[in-house]
Parts: sequence; C-alpha cells; structure tokens
Amino acid sequence: MNTLISTPLCNLRIAKFPSTFCSIPHSVSLHSQFLYKPFQCRANPSDLIDSKTAQEPEQELSNRATEIDEETDTASEVSATKASSGPKIDQDLKKVVQKTASTFAPRASTATKNPAVPGSTLYSVFEIQGYASMLLGGALSFNLIFPSNEPDIWRLMGMWSVWMFTIPSLRARDCSKNEKEALNYLFLLIPLLNVIIPFFWKSFAVVWSADIVAFFAMYAWKAEASHCSTHGVPLVRNIAELPQDNYGRPGLSHITIAGSLLHGMKEVEVWLQTFAPGSRTPIHRHSCEEVFVVLKGSGTLYLATNSHLKYPGQPQEFPIFTNSTFQIPVNDAHQASVELKRSCSLDREIKQTSEETKAIYVWNTNQGEDLQVLVIISRPPVKVFIYDDWFVPHVAANLKFPYYWDEQCFQTPTKDEL
Ligand SMILES: *[C@@H]1O[C@H](CO)[C@@H](O)[C@H](O)[C@H]1NC(C)=O
Repeated sequence: MNTLISTPLCNLRIAKFPSTFCSIPHSVSLHSQFLYKPFQCRANPSDLIDSKTAQEPEQELSNRATEIDEETDTASEVSATKASSGPKIDQDLKKVVQKTASTFAPRASTATKNPAVPGSTLYSVFEIQGYASMLLGGALSFNLIFPSNEPDIWRLMGMWSVWMFTIPSLRARDCSKNEKEALNYLFLLIPLLNVIIPFFWKSFAVVWSADIVAFFAMYAWKAEASHCSTHGVPLVRNIAELPQDNYGRPGLSHITIAGSLLHGMKEVEVWLQTFAPGSRTPIHRHSCEEVFVVLKGSGTLYLATNSHLKYPGQPQEFPIFTNSTFQIPVNDAHQASVELKRSCSLDREIKQTSEETKAIYVWNTNQGEDLQVLVIISRPPVKVFIYDDWFVPHVAANLKFPYYWDEQCFQTPTKDEL
C-alpha cells in the first residue's frame, strides 16, 4: 500500500506561476545571467507610462511625477478599501475554522513542537496513511472491495474516509500554514457535502468523488498563496524560478530574492528589479537603509539633498550605470519629529526608528536598455512614503504599507494555536 503514494503536497509552494517566470537559460551562470542577459519577460516599451523621452526638462519632472503617482494613489486607495473589509471577514472566518478544527480534530501530538517534520519518517507515515486511506475509501465506495448489493458499513466507511482518515492524518504532519488552513476548511466542508449530496444523489461513489474534488480544489486554492510560507523554502534557489511580477506597475519586474514576509528575513531584504526603458519608481522615502547595485543598464537617480526643508525640494540628479552602486543615506532625527505627528496606526513602528531616508527615485532614462538593479534594504517589511511631487510636505506623503509586493503575503499577525 505504501507504494501508492508519491507526491508530497507540502512541496506545492515551490513551483508557482511557471508562466510568469523569466525564462533565463539555466545553463548560464548566475553572474553572467544578470550582468549580460536581459530578462526575457522584459516589459513591452509600448505599455510604459514614460516611454516618450529619456532626458526630460526639469519642469516636466514634477508633472510627470504627479501623473505616475496618481496611479499609485488610486491603487493604494483601492487596496486600502479592500484591506478594511475583506481581510477582516477572512480573518474571522479563519479563526472560527481554526478553532472548530482544533476542537474536533486535535493534532496527534500535544507537544509544542510537532515531531512529524518534513523529511522525518513520521511525516511520511502520516502522509502515506492519509493518501492510502483516501484510495482505500475510493475503492470501498466504488464497491471494488468487499462488493455487495447492500449499502453496508464498508460503503459508508469509504464515503467518509477522506474526513475520518485522510484529513486527520495529513493534519498530524507539521505542514505549512496554508496547507493546514486548507485542511481545516476541508474538515468542515466535507461533512456538509457528505450529508447534503445523498439527498439528491444516493451514491457512495458520487459522495466520495465530490470529497476528492473538494480536497484538490481546496489544495489548489491554498497553494496559490503558499509561496508566502517560509516553511520548506529550499536553501539554494534559482532566481529565474522565483515569482516575478510588476505589481500593476508597467515596465517593472520585481523579484523578492530574500524577503521578510516570503522568506522570514529579519534584518535585511533583497530585491532584484528590472525597469524597462522610461519606467521608474515613484518619488518615495522609507525609514531604512538602502543599497543599490546596478547590474545592467543605466539611468538617473534623483535624490532630495536638502534635509532641512519640510518637503523634499528640487532633487539632485546622479547618472547611474552598469556596475555602479549607491546607498541612500538615512537622515538624522531632523524629520522624525515631523513623522511622529502624522503617525497614527504605525505609531509604534515609527517611534522605534528615529531617522528616515531622503526622498528618491530611480528612473531608467536609457531608451535602449533595461535597467536592472539589486536592492538591499534594512528593517523589512518596507514602509514606503510616496510623494506626488518633490514639493509635497513630508507630512503629506502617502504611506503605502504593506508595499505592493508584500500585500499578498502580509497578514496581521495571528496566533496559530494548532
Ligand atoms: C562590470 O563588472 C564586471 C566584473 O568586474 C566586469 O566583468 C564587467 O565588464 C563590468 N561591466 C561593465 C559594463 O563595466
């Protein structure tokens, strides 16, 4: 029976969105990959916001900044509205499901650390037991084992096998948060199916099949978000296989190489970003140190240099080029007092950081080439203040938190008592 099982579902998270991966040839070494091979998922210049000219007169700069940031603002408003209603209900539902599931299907072990960790024999035993009982249940409900013409106990057992054996077995493993959530939902959903379906269709086989469909549908749904789990992330990862996205920003390709929400980083976070010709970051600042390494292409860094104003002020321009590096200085406490006044929900976090960085933005002003940068930031996850233009007072900059690439994995911390 043991040979029936092969796929560890806990590994689902590794390969997500294969279609959006940048297809970099695997045979090329990392170094040359990033320095010389453009990402093939490079944005089409025609759908860029700023594809017109590479070098712009300074006056136009703030107009365009307003343009681009209006978009950003709309996006953040939308997400703010969503954040206030959707996740609240979602959170409550999750809690209820978690509570119910832990009451009626307690984990095998009450020890604080589940010994059935991935790779352990116990883990495999639970997994094999789970899928074997599923198949056995199928065979029983399809009348393949102990066949009879009566709706006997074996048929009934078969119909309930997923709920009675598969889910508890899988839940006994130390699996990812998402998988556990999927199992919790299934634990409540399957009895409903099993009770309701017989009213319409008196067939053990149909009920079992419906359970199986529900099982895999739930897994597929939860696997969507499962790359957020820090659980089971392989030590060595191929950057070309990491999820990349533009997060609604045309011309951008962002990969979180090592993230706080994605990979559990505590002190630093590393991004690989590619800007198509003409695209750029919004004018922004965040309270962290930031180091850029330009791997490929060229562009312009705009940095507000006067830290004594109440707004960023006219920025200074710095050409950036392949193999150049720059770090965004963190201001002294000067603006922190201003910050305290405007802080509301993030009071605690802002008080902790007594300094902040200067407003910057990076613009791929080279029409001919992608600009690829490696970005290292401190104190993740990043909290970004976005300016409509360089004369927006620091206190009026819009906070975007969680930032676009952190949205999907950001959760208000909840205790997982299972
Ligand atoms: C960038 O640096 C690498 C390693 O030092 C070097 O091989 C390469 O030629 C440089 N590229 C450019 C465009 O300067």
